[in-house]
Amino acid sequence: MTTRLLMPRSCTQYVKLFYKLFTQTQGHRYLSNVYPPAERIRKFITENTELTGEQSLTPEIRLRLFTPSCRFWRERPELWPFDDPYWAIYWPGGQALSRYVLDNPEVCRGQTVLDLGSGCGASAIAAKLCGAAHIVANDIDTVAAVATQMNFELNGLEPPACLTENMIGSEPEAFNLILLGDMFYDEALATDLHNWLDSCIRTHGTKVLIGDPGRAQFESHHIRRLLHQLAQFELPESVREENYGLTCSSVWCYCPEL
Ligand SMILES: C[S@@+](CC[C@H](N)C(=O)[O-])C[C@H]1O[C@@H](n2cnc3c(N)ncnc32)[C@H](O)[C@@H]1O
Repeated sequence: MTTRLLMPRSCTQYVKLFYKLFTQTQGHRYLSNVYPPAERIRKFITENTELTGEQSLTPEIRLRLFTPSCRFWRERPELWPFDDPYWAIYWPGGQALSRYVLDNPEVCRGQTVLDLGSGCGASAIAAKLCGAAHIVANDIDTVAAVATQMNFELNGLEPPACLTENMIGSEPEAFNLILLGDMFYDEALATDLHNWLDSCIRTHGTKVLIGDPGRAQFESHHIRRLLHQLAQFELPESVREENYGLTCSSVWCYCPEL
C-alpha cells in the first residue's frame, strides 16, 4: 500500500512500527484480500486490541484499538498477519468529525450516510447514535470491516452494512451524507476523492463532511480552498502525544456549486 509511505511523519507514529513489519516477510500473512473467516479475524482483534474510550474527543464511543499494552506494540513486526492496521487507530480527523456529528445530531438524523475510509468505524457509530436511517461503512481493508462490526456491537448497536470494495470512482449512490475522517493524507487519493465527491454532489446533491487535523496534503490540496469550516476541536493531550505536532482538528463542509 503506497499511501503509507506518503503519510506525514506526524501522523504515523503507530503506522511506522507496522511499516517495518510489512517490509519483512515470514510465514503466515494474509495478503491480496485472501483472508481467514471473519470469526478468526474477530478472535485476532479481540486478542490484540484493548477497549478504549475516555482518551478521545468522543468518550461516549468505545473502541477496540492498539494501545501500549497490546502485544503488537512490542511484538516482532514480521508476525503481524494482515495489511496496515489503520483501523486500530482512532485518527484525529475522525475524532473531530465524530464529535461534530454527536454535537449536531440533526445532520445525520433520518439520513442515508456513507462513512468512507471508516477504519475503526467511529464516525459511522456517531451517525448511528444520532439516528441515521441507513449507514454504510466502507473501507478497502477487510479487517477494518470486521473491526467496525465489533465496535458497533461494543456500543450496543446493530452493525451497519460494511463494504470493502473501492467506491471511489464508482457510479454515485444516493447517499444524503458522506463522512470522511482523515482521508486526505495522500495527494493522489485526495484528487480521486475530490473528483468522485463532485460527481456524488452533482448526481444526488449529497452533503459532504470532512474531518482533518491540518495535514500538509490536505492544506495544500485544491479542495481545501473550496471548504467551509464548521468546527475546530483541541485534541486531548494523549492524542497530541500520539500525533506529534498536531494540536487541533477541524470539520469542514464541502458544498460547492456545481
Ligand atoms: C487514516 S485512516 C482513517 C480512518 C477513520 N476514518 C478515522 O478517522 O479514524 C484511512 C482509512 O481509509 C481506508 N482507505 C484508504 N483508501 C481507501 C479507499 N479508496 N476506499 C475506502 N477506504 C480507504 C484505509 O484502509 C484506512 O482505514
